[in-house]
Amino acid sequence: RPALSMHAMDGLVLEDVPLNAIADALGTPTWVMSAGTLRARYRRLANAFAATGHPVSIHFAVKANDHLAVLRVLAAQGAGADVVSGGELRRAMAAGIPAGRIVFSGVGKTVDEMRLALRAGILQINVESAEELELLSATAQAEGLEAAVALRINPDVDAGTHAKITTGLANNKFGIPYNRAVELYAHAAALPGIRPVGLAMHIGSQIVRMQPYRTAYARLAALVHAIRARGLVVDALDCGGGLGISYRDESEGAPEALAAAIHAELGGLGTRLAIEPGRWLAGPAGVLLSTVILRKRGYDGMPPFLVLDAAMNDLMRPSLYDAWHGILPLSARDANAPAEAVHVVGPVCESGDTFGNDRTLPHMEAGARVALLDCGAYGMVMSSTYNDRPLAAQVMVDGNRWAVIRPRQPVEELWAADHVPQWVDQTLT
Ligand code: LLP
Repeated sequence: RPALSMHAMDGLVLEDVPLNAIADALGTPTWVMSAGTLRARYRRLANAFAATGHPVSIHFAVKANDHLAVLRVLAAQGAGADVVSGGELRRAMAAGIPAGRIVFSGVGKTVDEMRLALRAGILQINVESAEELELLSATAQAEGLEAAVALRINPDVDAGTHAKITTGLANNKFGIPYNRAVELYAHAAALPGIRPVGLAMHIGSQIVRMQPYRTAYARLAALVHAIRARGLVVDALDCGGGLGISYRDESEGAPEALAAAIHAELGGLGTRLAIEPGRWLAGPAGVLLSTVILRKRGYDGMPPFLVLDAAMNDLMRPSLYDAWHGILPLSARDANAPAEAVHVVGPVCESGDTFGNDRTLPHMEAGARVALLDCGAYGMVMSSTYNDRPLAAQVMVDGNRWAVIRPRQPVEELWAADHVPQWVDQTLT
């Protein structure tokens, strides 16, 4: 993790900013994003594809981290967006991402969302079913507009990742069954208001082996040939996202290997190429700062509990997917303490509110601060206010500068929009 380093005086430093300085100023829990890391990772990804001689357009999956500042940093590097709701579409445009660089994915777009996308004139709508295609055709006709459509194919390939984030298997809700794709493409070409431009695929997330990608893209290539054999045009291939990162000891998915796989399977077809990465770009760029509220002794012979002031409502991934996130002390003195086994938990009233069981960490007492690592993707965006815990503050670091990019949510805001009908107070029994 090149952007993080430990210094004897300053403790843990992100780019050139001591994380303790941020925690001193804002308290915890606080999310911190590194703009420099976002840029460096974007460049590595773009360069990996440029080196194959077949550049790719990169549509950042907004769901991974939707903060306007994050979108702006990536947009300045040339990123477009992959959105999955009307909200994400409007947010991407609010961040200044041109409509012509936005693709719209998702298995259940409403007519309102379709209308929004059509009126904005986005690059492409990825359609996931025959039923959705009919709805889009009717909506486009009513608007007097034409939808540029890619059909998202379900290749029935196991991505080898967590079951809850696998999307390319036959029993997943995503995409059009592979064996019906040619027929549906021909149908789409005949539908009013629809202009089929190509195919899309996304087989899952946190994928670190290339074989599932290769199998899926080979199937995509076969479809391109079959569709073209019908005399139809296939001009664009959206290869999806999913490239994994190293949370623990797994090796990170290499953009160079992905670029090589895409180039080998799809590079000779003469189409435009696109990808939709989220986690690989943003995950390693973010940390969540937290403070040990107390160190609670367990049963004799059992590890103590470090109860943090961050919880599952902030970072949901460990509860939801048993995900592993690295944990580092912020102070150099804590970092050098002898190691021990601890359970790291949050204060929410559920046993699932656990960041790590039996973790080996340097000895820490109440008041110690830690950074939870690799929280830049699917971190803040999945937060809730469960247990009336306000959304945490957000900071962006760039070189030696840092700024609050979203203040901690005031607690009163949590009930400010609650409406109590008058009769609630008048009813006595
Ligand atoms: N494109 C589509 C159509 C997607 O559904 C997704 C993610 C992406 C791109 C971006 O995938 P990525 O490159 O980030 O792997 N909350 C889960 C991850 C859910 C991913 C959903 N789809 C987690 O925290 O692991």
